[in-house]
Order: sequence, then C-alpha cells, then structure tokens
Amino acid sequence: MLELTDVTKEYRVGGQSVRALDGISLRIEPGEFTAIIGPSGSGKSTLLHLLGALDSPDTGSIRFRDKEIGDLDDDRQSEFRRHQVGFIFQFFNLLPTLSAWENVAIPKLLDGTGLRKAKPRALELLDMVGLGDRAEHRPAELSGGQMQRVAVARALIMDPPLILADEPTGNLDSKTGASILRLLGDITRDGNSVVMVTHDMGAVRYCDRVITLRDGLIGSTELVERTDDGEVRTVPVSPDGTTAAAGDAGVVRA
Ligand SMILES: Nc1ncnc2c1ncn2[C@@H]1O[C@H](COP(=O)(O)OP(=O)(O)OP(=O)(O)O)[C@@H](O)[C@H]1O
Ligand SMILES: [Mg+2]
Repeated sequence: MLELTDVTKEYRVGGQSVRALDGISLRIEPGEFTAIIGPSGSGKSTLLHLLGALDSPDTGSIRFRDKEIGDLDDDRQSEFRRHQVGFIFQFFNLLPTLSAWENVAIPKLLDGTGLRKAKPRALELLDMVGLGDRAEHRPAELSGGQMQRVAVARALIMDPPLILADEPTGNLDSKTGASILRLLGDITRDGNSVVMVTHDMGAVRYCDRVITLRDGLIGSTELVERTDDGEVRTVPVSPDGTTAAAGDAGVVRA
C-alpha cells in the first residue's frame, strides 16, 4: 500500500542540522498492523509524519498505491490526508465542547458534509468501538480509554485505508491500552493498514510486523507470529520484509 525508498529528512535549526531519517526503505502492506519502535530521537514521529503527508521528505520516494506522494504541494497533501489517512494521537485531541458523536463526525464536517448527515455513521462507529451509550457525552465526561475509542472512531469515519497512531496507549493504563490495541488490530481485518509508533514493548504482541529505528535508520524488521498455545514470538526478516534474515527468533515479553 505504501512504499518508501531511500527516504531522508533533515531538520535545520539555527546553524545546526539534525538528520532525523537517514535513508529509510520499507513497505506498509494492506491489512497489516505495523509497530514502529526505537529509542527517543530515533526518528519514529518524523517517519509517521511522512507516511501521513504531514511533511515531505528531503530525498527519496514515498509511493501510495503506486502514486508518488512525497512531492505533493500543500493542497494535495491535505487532500491526501483528508481522504486516505486517519490519525490517532497520544492525547486524543478531542474538541471539549462537542459530544462524542460530534467529535467523530468532525472530519466529515471539514469535508463539506453537514453534521446531521454524518450522524448515523458516527453513531455506528461509536457502537463499533463499544461506546454506543456514550454518544452524547462530552470528552470530560468520558474515561481516558473511552476518549481514545472516540478518537479511533473519528479516525475511521472517512473510511481511510491507512490509520496512523503516535503513542495511542501512552496515556492509558495497561489494561485500557490493551483494549485499544485489540481494537486497532481489529480494524486491519477489512484490509486497512495501521501503523503505530510506540514505546510499549508489550504492544508488539498485538501487531503483525515490528520495525525498529536506530538513529534514523531501520535497525531491524520482524514479523510477529502467534503459536496455537498463545505464545507470541518475533521472527527477523530482511529489510524488504519478505525473506528470513539472519538472527534468532525471540519470544515477546509481556
Ligand atoms: N521540528 C523539528 N525541528 C528540529 N528537529 C527536530 C524536529 N522534530 C524532530 N527533530 C529532531 O529529529 C530527531 C528525530 O525526532 P523524532 O521526533 O522523529 O523522534 P522520536 O523517535 O519520535 O522520539 P520520541 O520517542 O522521543 O518521540 C530528533 O533528534 C529530534 O531532535
Ligand atoms: Mg515521537
């Protein structure tokens, strides 16, 4: 669905430059839940921003369904984001004065659909994330996990093929976080791709693929395998994600 080739991104602040991404090549497959992990400053958020056309690479190519998106102008970037991408953030980013269903419907509103017309689908999505009975609640009247469920529903209302999440469980306790991770796994069943940046190693068990960044480079790519007895292990694969790579399979820590 998404293919990055030799992508670099440098930030210049004052006279200094920081190479946030130093030549990244990877593929995001339809129907896969991909985790991006790595130390602070390794380039995870920068990479996610490029995947979602919130920013452009300096060099290299980013192809979405065989069309280059790395060089879109501002208008085309926001058009791409509106229709192809759903974003989920650590701090939910809900509008406090709006009800849960109105928050879910906001992307439709921004795309020119009236709020009332968007309501049935917003209610359907709230139902899907287990909040059918909280549609009229405002964010302050919801728990953290419930707020993140509203944000997941909002990310889905435009029916985007790509969902991007930056630390979606960073502000939740582990049990609530696990329910959000299961929900993110569920939405890949219809062929949507979910890419999630996380510090939480325990989150890996809910994913299909794990990409580890180190200093703006891909350190490793692993596939997550589940055995019948419920054990989860990671198997290293080559950078293009297809063939087995040298290295041992590891059991995922809880
Ligand atoms: N807007 C910016 N301007 C200048 N430098 C930036 C900017 N954003 C990120 N950087 C630098 O680029 C590098 C990668 O940053 P990035 O935010 O992608 O890291 P990260 O892996 O998401 O880290 P964290 O886990 O702490 O969120 C860092 O060295 C950071 O200081
Ligand atoms: Mg980050």
